[in-house]
Formats: sequence, structure tokens, C-alpha cells
Amino acid sequence: MIETLISRWDGESVITKYDRDFRAWIFIAIHSTVLGPAAGGTRMKIYGAPGEALLDAMRLAEGMTLKYAVADFPRGGGKAVIGLTSELDGDDRIELLKRYGTLVRSLRGAFLTGPDVGTTSEDMDIIHRTGSPYIFSRTAESGGAGSSGYYTAIGVYHGLRAVCRSLYGDPSLKDRTILIQGAGSVGGRLVDLALKDGARVSISDVDAATVDRFSGRQGVSTIASDAVYDVECDIFSPCAMGSVLNERTIPRLRCRAIAGAANNQLESETDAKRLKMRGILYAPDFAVNIGGAMAVTGIEGMGWPEERALQEVARVEETVTRIFEISTAEGITTDAAARMLARERLGKA
Ligand code: NAI
Ligand code: PHE
Repeated sequence: MIETLISRWDGESVITKYDRDFRAWIFIAIHSTVLGPAAGGTRMKIYGAPGEALLDAMRLAEGMTLKYAVADFPRGGGKAVIGLTSELDGDDRIELLKRYGTLVRSLRGAFLTGPDVGTTSEDMDIIHRTGSPYIFSRTAESGGAGSSGYYTAIGVYHGLRAVCRSLYGDPSLKDRTILIQGAGSVGGRLVDLALKDGARVSISDVDAATVDRFSGRQGVSTIASDAVYDVECDIFSPCAMGSVLNERTIPRLRCRAIAGAANNQLESETDAKRLKMRGILYAPDFAVNIGGAMAVTGIEGMGWPEERALQEVARVEETVTRIFEISTAEGITTDAAARMLARERLGKA
């Protein structure tokens, strides 16, 4: 499976390492360096087979290329996956992260990384010990910009504003109902931003402790995770995992639009057409969720002050609006419009 995946991939290269001691497969997929050195998060979780981990790395790396290209940001697309075969904690986890840091450093800047599902800013502090200076989104105590989730949530908030502008002619979220799937690092912060704007928020999370944290809060209701696709709302915001928009869920949706942080929300490109046919406005994930990757690279790698980072992240609103305009003008899905914009930028470079 691995040879087939690599030989059919349109990306530039895949760095592969098997750590025998921890029985972990590490894949660093470099999709494109056309716009700059490849950057992307490090995902660490248990996979059923190494091929699944590699496929995840490849799809996510392509997403990073698109993300940076639509945002017109000078970075290429890459992603790392540490595929575990069993749960790892304590000193073993630290040791594996340090070994991973050594691998990243050996690439001498061809790959820059930050957190993703299964890794945190605290983990970046550990990886940084051996991987410096190519590790981003470290904790503030270690001199980093902190969690990328904060900036990603701000970007998603601006994506929601672009959606409201397109649907209602007014970007404010006031009195809109927003359903957030996954109230973690990004989704949890998005709850606060939406409430501040006067939205009515519902959250759904598989983690009972997370649901408890939000239940009882004024303006927030909670939805069972298996009911999330059936609930009426203005905007559905997937902020948990990928492939949630597919032929099984799309017919059930009762929202007017979708804008969220999760990477690779569409199971396939056909799902963009399914959404269009149902009249659901889709803000492409890779245009909406750039905030964290952009801000932490800008702050830590380019010396941006906080205000600059916030200004740059707010550009998500403009980008998403532009994508909607292209989609209308060309009569294509918003996903196709966003890819077209990305390709144009990559072509020029
Ligand atoms: P997180 O792990 O902090 O939060 C995810 C939340 O989703 C958790 O509370 C988890 O319990 C919940 N969840 C998992 N499966 C679920 C399900 N089936 N239904 C409902 N809830 C479920 O992750 P984070 O950092 O908030 O990221 C969320 C998504 O956004 C991920 O797909 C990630 O790749 C993507 N993303 C994150 C960025 C960041 O800066 N953190 C940047 C760009 C994308
Ligand atoms: N998880 C981030 C994303 O998917 C990746 C990232 C975070 C990249 C921080 C660089 C720095 O966009």
C-alpha cells in the first residue's frame, strides 16, 4: 500500500522513519515548496496500519499547500504524522518526540512544524529541544506564540462573518444559530467569539467533560453527538475531525451554511457538489482554518507583533468572500473556486 500511495501522489517527497523501540511510523509528507518551505502540523495518534497514517499525512499536506496558497502566504504545504501502534505516555512519549525533533532538524528547514491533533504546545516545547529552530507554536513560557488554536478560532470567526455577509448581507453573527461540532482547542474558543457577537451557540462533543464545561452557560445549548447532522441551525461549524461531510451526512443537514476548522471536511470532491445541490453554502476548510498556521509562523518566524498577526488572520473574511464571488461568477462549487484561486497563485509563483 505504501509504495502505491507514494508513487501515485502528486506531492514532492515523503520522509519515512520507523522507530523500532516504540513501534511508531513517522511520515513527513512534503506536498509543495513552490511558495516557500513546507510547513504543517504534527499529528500523533494510533492508526490501524502505516498506510493509513501515510494517507493522512499526504491528504493533510496537500491541504496545507492549498491553505497557504489561498491566503497568499509564503509557505509550502507539508504535514507530519506519527503513527502509533499503541498508547504512549510518560518518558516513552517524551523520548519519541525528541527523536522526532532530531528527524525534523536533519531536514534543515525543509519542513517547519507545529501542533495538530494529538500534539500540543507543550509537546512542541519537547520537540524543540532537538528540533530547534524549526518548531512553532511553543508555549509562551518557552518563548513561543502559544496554542495555534486561539488564532485558528479567530480565523474561523472571520469565515463565519464572510458566510453571514453572503447569506444575509450583514457579517454580524448576532441572533444567528451556530452549531459547533467539537468544542476543543479551536471550537471551544469559537464559542466565546460567537457569543460575544450575539450568536446563539450549540455545541456537540464526544467528550463528556467538555460537554459539562459548556452546559449551563448562557446562550449555549448542547447536542448529542449522533444528532449533530439533524439539528436545524444557520451555520454548522465542524471543528472536530475530517470527512464529516459525505453522502450519508449531507442529505441530513438542516443548516444554511458550513464553516469550520476541521481539516479535510469533505470526504470527496463530489461532496462539494452535493452541498451545492442542496443549496448549502460551504466555506472551504483550507480557506477558513489558516489562522493558527499563519499567526504562529508569523509571530515566531517572521517577528510579527500580535496586532499584525490578528490583522493577517482577519483576512480570512476577505478570502472567503472572494471564493464565494468566484464560485458564483464561474458557476462552480466553492471548493472548486478555492482550488482555482490556489492554483492561480501557485502557477504565478
Ligand atoms: P482538539 O483535539 O483540541 O478538539 C477537538 C474536539 O473535538 C475535542 O473536544 C474532541 O472531544 C471533539 N471530538 C472528537 N470527535 C468528535 C466527534 N465525533 N463529535 C464531536 N466532537 C468530537 O482539536 P483542535 O485543535 O480544536 O482541532 C480541531 C480540528 O481543527 C482538527 O480537525 C484539526 O486538524 C483542525 N485544525 C486545528 C488547528 C489548530 O490550530 N488547532 C488549525 C487548523 C485545523
Ligand atoms: N494544525 C495546523 C493546521 O492544520 C498546523 C500548524 C500549526 C502549522 C502551527 C504550523 C504551525 O493548520
